Amino acid sequence: MQIGIPKEIKSAEKRVAATPAGVRAFIAHGHKVFVEKGAGLGSGFRDKEYARAGAKILDDPKDVWMESNMIMKVKEPIGPELDWIRPGQIIFTYLHLAANRELTERLLNKKVVGIAYETVQLEDGSLPLLSPMSEVAGRLSIQMGAYCLESQHGGMGVLLSGISGVRPARVTIIGGGVVGYSAAVVAVGIGAQVSILDKNPLRLRYLEDISDFRLVTIMSNPANIEEECINSHLVIGSVLIPGARAPKLITRDIVRQMMPGSAIVDIAIDQGGCCETSHPTTHEDPTFIVEDVVHYCVANMPGAVPRTSTIALTNVTLAYGLEIANKGYKKAMADDPALKRGLNLLNGEVCYPAVAEAFGLPCSQADF
Ligand SMILES: NC(=O)c1ccc[n+]([C@@H]2O[C@H](COP(=O)([O-])OP(=O)(O)OC[C@H]3O[C@@H](n4cnc5c(N)ncnc54)[C@H](O)[C@@H]3O)[C@@H](O)[C@H]2O)c1
Repeated sequence: MQIGIPKEIKSAEKRVAATPAGVRAFIAHGHKVFVEKGAGLGSGFRDKEYARAGAKILDDPKDVWMESNMIMKVKEPIGPELDWIRPGQIIFTYLHLAANRELTERLLNKKVVGIAYETVQLEDGSLPLLSPMSEVAGRLSIQMGAYCLESQHGGMGVLLSGISGVRPARVTIIGGGVVGYSAAVVAVGIGAQVSILDKNPLRLRYLEDISDFRLVTIMSNPANIEEECINSHLVIGSVLIPGARAPKLITRDIVRQMMPGSAIVDIAIDQGGCCETSHPTTHEDPTFIVEDVVHYCVANMPGAVPRTSTIALTNVTLAYGLEIANKGYKKAMADDPALKRGLNLLNGEVCYPAVAEAFGLPCSQADF
C-alpha cells in the first residue's frame, strides 16, 4: 500500500502521524511511505531520519495526498487538504466528526473511508488510541500545576514536594480514570499529599489497592469535593461522563473558598470543564485568575509536549495502520472488531451510530 504522512497544518499542531521507526515498520512490510518535507520537525524528527527509514520525502503536500491510498494524520483534514482527498482514500486520524457537521458532509461527498482513532474501541469499552493522550495530559497536569503555584504566575509560591522541615503541597484529583491516575502517579512521585475522588467505588478500590497507601481515595460527592478543594493547594479536574459535557463539580462558591494563590488545572475543559469558573485557554496564554485562584484550562494539553505525544500516539496507531496496510481495510476490520468500531464513513455513508445520531443521518452497516 502507498501511505502518506502529511505535515499537520492545524494551528499550533506539532505532532506527526508516524515516527521514523513507524515508517521503517511499514517499509519492512513492503509498503511505500510518502512523508511531506518537514512533517516531523515539530516533534524533533528530521527529514533525513525518515529518508533513512525508507520514506520518500515530497516537497508538495498535494503530492502526498495524490500518491497515497491511505493518509495517516493526527488531526482532521482541513483547508486545502479537503480538496486533495480522492474518493476511496483511507483517512486514518482523529476525526471527531460528531462535533463537526461541515467536515462530515465534505468527507461524505468525497466518499472516503474514514477511520477515526477516537472510536477504535476494545471489547472492554476502552479506547486504545485515546488513552496515551490522556496519560500525557494527566502527567503533564502536575507539571503545569507546579507552574501555576509559582508566585510569578500568580500562585502562592508553594513547592509541590515541600522540603525537609516544610510540608509538601496537598493535591486533590477529581476523577480517577486514565487522566486522574496518571496525574496521581506523578503527584505521589513528586512527594505531594494526594487525594483522589471518583464516583465509582470499584475504581476507588482499584486505586487504593495499587497505591500502596500513598494515595487517599475518597468517594465523590458535593460535600467531599468542597472539603478537599478548599484544603488543597492544587486541584486537578479529570472527570468524564462518556458522550456528555463534564459536570460542574467545582462551583464558583467552592473556588471562592479556596486558598488565595491555589491552582486548578481543569483537564476536562475539552468537554466543557468541571469547574464553573473555567474557560478554554491556549498554550500561548494558558492561565487566568478568578477569585484569587490560578486556572490552567488548555484543551489540547498534549500539544505542549509534541515529541512525547507523537511517540505515544504512534506506539498505538502503528499496529492498526499495519493491519490496514497489510490486509486492506475490509479484511483488517473483519479480523479485528476493535478496528471496525473505528469506521465512521464509507462510500458516502455514515457507519458510526453517534455520528449519524448527531446529524440525523441514517447509519449504515459495513458488510464485512
Ligand atoms: N485537556 C486535554 O488536553 C485533555 C487530554 C486528554 C483527556 N482530556 C479529558 O480528561 C477527562 C478525563 O479523561 P479520562 O481519559 O481520564 O476518562 P476516563 O473515562 O478514563 O475517567 C473518567 C473518570 O471520571 C469519573 N467520574 C465521572 N463522574 C464523576 C464525578 N461526578 N465525580 C468523580 N469522578 C467522576 C469516572 O468514574 C471515571 O473514573 C476527559 O474529559 C477527557 O476528555 C483532556
